[in-house]
Amino acid sequence: MTTADNATPNDWTPDSWKSRLDPQQVLYTDRDAVERAVSKLASLPPLVTSWEIDHLRDKIAQAQRGESFVLQGGDCAERLDDCRPEPITSRLKILLQMSLVLVHGLGRPVVRVGRFAGQYAKPRSSKTETKEIDGSPVELPSYFGDLVNRDDFTPEARAPDPHLMVRGYQHAAMTINFIRALIDGGFADLHHPEYWDLSFMGSAKLEPPLREQYQAMSRELAGALKFMENLGEKTVDDLTRVDFYTSHEGLNLLYESAQTRTVPRKDGFYNLTTHMPWVGERTRDLDGAHVEYFRGIRNPVGVKLGPSADGETVSALLDRLNPTNEPGRMVLIVRMGAEQVQTNLGPLIQSIGDRTVLWVSDPMHGNTRGTASGRKTRSVDDIRTELEASIDIHARLGTHLGGVHFELTGEDVTECVGGAADVTEDQLDQNYATALDPRLNYQQALELAFLLANKLT
Ligand code: PEP
Ligand code: CO
Repeated sequence: MTTADNATPNDWTPDSWKSRLDPQQVLYTDRDAVERAVSKLASLPPLVTSWEIDHLRDKIAQAQRGESFVLQGGDCAERLDDCRPEPITSRLKILLQMSLVLVHGLGRPVVRVGRFAGQYAKPRSSKTETKEIDGSPVELPSYFGDLVNRDDFTPEARAPDPHLMVRGYQHAAMTINFIRALIDGGFADLHHPEYWDLSFMGSAKLEPPLREQYQAMSRELAGALKFMENLGEKTVDDLTRVDFYTSHEGLNLLYESAQTRTVPRKDGFYNLTTHMPWVGERTRDLDGAHVEYFRGIRNPVGVKLGPSADGETVSALLDRLNPTNEPGRMVLIVRMGAEQVQTNLGPLIQSIGDRTVLWVSDPMHGNTRGTASGRKTRSVDDIRTELEASIDIHARLGTHLGGVHFELTGEDVTECVGGAADVTEDQLDQNYATALDPRLNYQQALELAFLLANKLT
C-alpha cells in the first residue's frame, strides 16, 4: 500500500496503530477467526463514500465559522436486535424534529449526525464483571457491545467472538440502507412536517403545550416553504433536502482499519465504515493506538474530553491529529459534568489558541449517577445546567458552542429523571431499556431542543 501522497503522514499505515498500546484491546482467543473476520470485512463494499465524508468536513468547517450547528445523537450502544424498522424510524424522527426546532430557533442550517449504523462497540472501565450465581461469585468478561460479545451473563455469550465484527458491519449496512431509503423516499421532506409527528405511530406521548409549540412551528415552516415556492425560488429543492451523517466511537481498531482505504483520484485514507468516527474519553492517550490510527484518516474526527483533559493535553492532541490546522477536521466533544464544566471549559478554550475546532457539548457522560436501587440515571436538570453553562462560557470568551451530542431514543423510555413529564427515580423501572447508558426519551429530547433554540438565539 502506498502512502506517498500529501494527506498521509509518511510514517503512518492503516495498521501502524498495532505497535501502540490499546487500553481497550479485545482479548480474542482464536487468532485465525480474527484473520478471517478482518479479511471478510476488508473485502466488503464500504458503508459510506469519500464524497460524503468530504461534504461533512465542509459542513463542519461551516459550523466552526458559526454558520451552522451540529446535532449529534442516538443510542449509547446500538444492538444487533435493534436493527428493526420501528426503533430506526423513531430515532430518525426525533433527530429530525429536534433539528427542525433548532433550524427554526437559530435561523441557521443544522447538520444531523446520528450515533448509529455502527455504534456497536463499548469501552468499559472494568474488564470483568462479577455476579452472585447460586450463592457463589462468578467472574466473566464485561459486555463490550454487540461488535465484541453479547450481554447475557454466560461464559459463551461473554466470550469475544470475531465474527460479530462481520455481523455488526452487516447490521450497520442494513440500518444505513433503510435510513437512506427513508430519506430518498421523502420521509424527511420538509413539505410534510406533519408526518414527523411521532404520535401517529402511537409510540410516544408529548405533553400538550410542547405538542402545540411544535405543531405551530411545523405549520409556520410549511407556510414559509410554500411562500418561497410561490416566489419561484429554484433552490427550494436544495433547502428541503435533508442530509444525515453517521458516527460511532472508533473503538475496535481491527474493525475500523479493515475498511480504511484509499479511493481513486484522491489523496489519503478514508475510514469508510462511518462519516465521523470519534475517539473516546478512555482511549485518547497521545501515544496510544487510537490516536495513532486516527491521525492518518481523512474523516472529520471527534475527541471526547472529560474533566481530566487539560489545555496542554488537548493542544498536543490537536497538533497530532490535525498538524496543518485544516478546517472541518476537529470536533471537540466536551463531557465534563454540570459542575466541572464551570471551572474547566473556559481554560480549555483559552489554551488551544487559534487552532480551528468545533466545540460540541455532550451533557450526558459527565452526569451519570447511580440510584439507590442500582440503576444508572442522569437528570435532565444536570444536562440542562451543563448545556447552559457551556453556552454562557463560550459567549463570555467570544467563541461559540457549535454543536451538541446526546444519547437519546425516539421511544418513551424511563432512563433519565426529570423533564416536564417529571420521570422520578421510582418510575425508572417502568421502561428502562438501554443496553448501557441512560438515554433521553422522546419528550425530554424535544424539550432540550426547545431549550437550546431559545438559549442560543
Ligand atoms: C459514549 O459516548 O457512549 C462514551 C462511552 O463516552 P465517553 O468516551 O465520553 O465516556
Ligand atoms: Co454512553
